[in-house]
Amino acid sequence: MLAHQRARVKVPATSANLGPGFDVMGLCLSLYDELSVEVIDGPDEAKVIGEGEKDLPVDSNHLVIKSIRHTLNYVGASASGLKLTSHNRIPHARGLGSSSAAIVAGISLARELVGSDKLSKQEMIDLAGKIEGHPDNIAPCILGGATIAWSNQQDHNAVRLNVNSELVPIIAIPEYQLATKQARSVLPQQVTREESVFNISRTALLVHSLTQDLSLLFQATEDRLHQFQRSEVMPKSWHLLSELRRNEFPAVVSGAGPAILILATSEYADAVVNAVNKIDPEFKVLALTVDQGGVQATSEN
Ligand code: HSE
Repeated sequence: MLAHQRARVKVPATSANLGPGFDVMGLCLSLYDELSVEVIDGPDEAKVIGEGEKDLPVDSNHLVIKSIRHTLNYVGASASGLKLTSHNRIPHARGLGSSSAAIVAGISLARELVGSDKLSKQEMIDLAGKIEGHPDNIAPCILGGATIAWSNQQDHNAVRLNVNSELVPIIAIPEYQLATKQARSVLPQQVTREESVFNISRTALLVHSLTQDLSLLFQATEDRLHQFQRSEVMPKSWHLLSELRRNEFPAVVSGAGPAILILATSEYADAVVNAVNKIDPEFKVLALTVDQGGVQATSEN
């Protein structure tokens, strides 16, 4: 039995890793897909406007519809047909969490249809993490701010950090796409103790820096585990990243790439935008804010 017949959701883009925090850290960004769903008689249908409108499925194979049905099933509910409308702005296959956003949108829409008391945020993280396979984009998408995510054999978990409000996340988005699977396939199976210690220290420093002292961000975003190792599958992004870091801007690969994220402050945000335009004008630059609240959904009768 459904409590509501219609629901809407505004779901944010996210950036995972933030340099050293491979598969752990994430940040919620002010760039959104907006979706609505209505329970109908008849088969599932999806209308996609914007990103992916030419290639996403328009039936029950759409990831958002699959996630709605998975969640309804999880709470013991069902729906006849679903009519989904999706205005997509989050670029696909760039490392900006578009598939996590789709999954979180589906779970949030289903939660609104059944009544939001039926599913806690922690259950949402676990459910979404199980659909996606990893929680590092899911966590900031649901909780907002910056997040630390971890998994064990049973479930996925996350906590939220209050990010310093002076932080200005800037994303530089290339034309080309890169599948996360391919970006993961080039990573080595083994890392050394030195590389591990290096990244543990920078990740711990990153938590301090994001919340207490943005002046340490350059050192706190150093990485030895995955960015250089992926340079062969994203040479243009690697070039931009290297040049930005040579100028001491705290640039990192956004998620598995190929977008680049620069953790700026208002003091040098303009300088970062100018630097990206100068180094490689083919990258589209967006100066964003940190979304502190994560996904927002509402129901309608
Ligand atoms: N952390 C993942 C990776 C991407 O770098 O492969 C986002 O889940």
